[in-house]
Amino acid sequence: MERRPHLPGLLALSLLALPLLAAMNQDPAGHDADETPLMLQMQVLKSGMKGLRRSLRDPQQNDASLEVVLEMQAASQLAKVEPPQMAAQVPEAERPAFVAAYRMEMVETQKVLLDLELALLASDSENAQAIYQRLKALEEEGHEHFTVE
Ligand code: HEM
Repeated sequence: MERRPHLPGLLALSLLALPLLAAMNQDPAGHDADETPLMLQMQVLKSGMKGLRRSLRDPQQNDASLEVVLEMQAASQLAKVEPPQMAAQVPEAERPAFVAAYRMEMVETQKVLLDLELALLASDSENAQAIYQRLKALEEEGHEHFTVE
């Protein structure tokens, strides 16, 4: 006898699999992968960089730039103590060193954000724009080392 797929059964099975698929996309604390505490702070960094790209070119907007820099400092302070999702894929023995290296790079980011604050307070737009490029480099390097894909 020819066996045909049992459609209602297949449907029920795939519905049962949904929570499993959702769980696979969560961190150990049960956050969705794109809504982990770290991701939320990264979004703050992202919109900050977007704003600064324009505002740093205009010394009239220094106060606005300073406000954004403070938000980014706060975000990086919160982000540095959140382990990256990639840590779960690193062998257990290497994990503490991986997490420490991530944190060191976030601390470096904090230092650069403080330099940016100093440059803005000194109304040194040229230096502020150069420091922005250092942040871009840290972003690239950080993502290369500490994110998957
Ligand atoms: C100003 C600089 C930065 C910006 C604008 C930024 C922005 C972002 C954005 C938008 C995401 C989410 C990507 C996505 O939706 O796929 C992200 C993720 C991530 N970023 Fe950054 N980032 C910056 C610096 C860094 C640095 C310096 C590090 C490492 C020290 C880092 C580590 C990570 C990690 C680990 C994730 C994945 C989040 C997780 O594992 O939960 N980022 N970042």
